[in-house]
Amino acid sequence: MRSQLFKTRITDLLGIRHPILCGGLGPRVSDADYVAAVVNAGGMGFIVAAGFADPDEFHAQLKRCRQLTQGQPFGVNLYISRQSGGLARVAEQIRILIEEGVSCVETAGASPQPVVGALREAGIKILHKVPAVKYAHSAARLGVDSIIMVGNDCGGHPGLFGISSMVQAAHGPSVVDLPVVIGGGIGTGRQMAAVLAMGADGIIMGSRMMVAEELWIHESYKEKVVRGDGTESVVVKRAIGDHHRVLLNDSARAVLALDDAKITDFEQFRPHVMGALAHEAYLTGDTSVGMLDYGPAVVFADAVKSVEAIFDDMIDDAAIAIRRLNGLETRNNQSDAALHNAAS
Ligand SMILES: Cc1cc2nc3c(=O)[nH]c(=O)nc-3n(C[C@H](O)[C@H](O)[C@H](O)COP(=O)(O)O)c2cc1C
Repeated sequence: MRSQLFKTRITDLLGIRHPILCGGLGPRVSDADYVAAVVNAGGMGFIVAAGFADPDEFHAQLKRCRQLTQGQPFGVNLYISRQSGGLARVAEQIRILIEEGVSCVETAGASPQPVVGALREAGIKILHKVPAVKYAHSAARLGVDSIIMVGNDCGGHPGLFGISSMVQAAHGPSVVDLPVVIGGGIGTGRQMAAVLAMGADGIIMGSRMMVAEELWIHESYKEKVVRGDGTESVVVKRAIGDHHRVLLNDSARAVLALDDAKITDFEQFRPHVMGALAHEAYLTGDTSVGMLDYGPAVVFADAVKSVEAIFDDMIDDAAIAIRRLNGLETRNNQSDAALHNAAS
């Protein structure tokens, strides 16, 4: 296990060793065992509340994670649903996570407005995930603690605008007055060093982590991820404005055909996008069906490894990147102001 290389507002806010977040993986992929492995390796992970619809099961996951992390802070991912009954479900999830002493949440899907009050009152830190800076400003005004900004490369929901992670990383931290975490396409330490250099306080990963030993998903899926080069990642559901970056499989091809035909009736999408299909695919390793969130960062997943080994690789790689930059710098002893004047 590597010692701390970077101290940022995110490592301070969350009490973690490395500025590395591993985002929630649905439907039930990021469970207690995976999240505990992330926390024990010095990062922050999130159990997806929506994956554990039975309250007893959700309680059990949180208890297990607390046990496996020996009381260290860990997180929960909350999907803020605009559908009927969605907010009542989230309220119940919040009641349970407060009872179980969860320390932070990753909110996603829609404005965190309905949940900020209860979470803040309970002292739970809120990290709100957005696909564009404009949503960050409104979340910041609501009182969240940190903004997670994901770019177009991200597995899952990259938003409607297709803004690259490179642009998010350079822009977001300069205009958002909160700790900013950048994700989408990240899977190496050199990207982490670059993002921190651009002003961010941390990174978030999903796709690159799909080879973690601690994930229960089928070995053949992990091997597929190891072989992946990112060209099999595709954005679907554009016709219904719910852009979703997934593995190109039979279901994705069927949905692409609906997109091409500009179909907007969700009922025609439903048979291909049901969450149960994805769960079955992860369980059996038959990845021909289901919406399997999948981004090009799989190209960095070189082998099935423990979370700790992945983090070690990343920290070592970040240190090399810093040395490289130091070696390239020609004006080592000048102040920032002097460099700025020289450049202008
Ligand atoms: C398999 C998988 C499942 C995901 N499920 C969710 C989810 O349920 N909720 C969510 O907010 N984000 C989800 N995400 C997105 C991740 O939390 C994270 O934001 C994203 O993966 C970062 O981009 P990257 O895939 O390029 O690393 C998922 C990503 C993957 C790869």
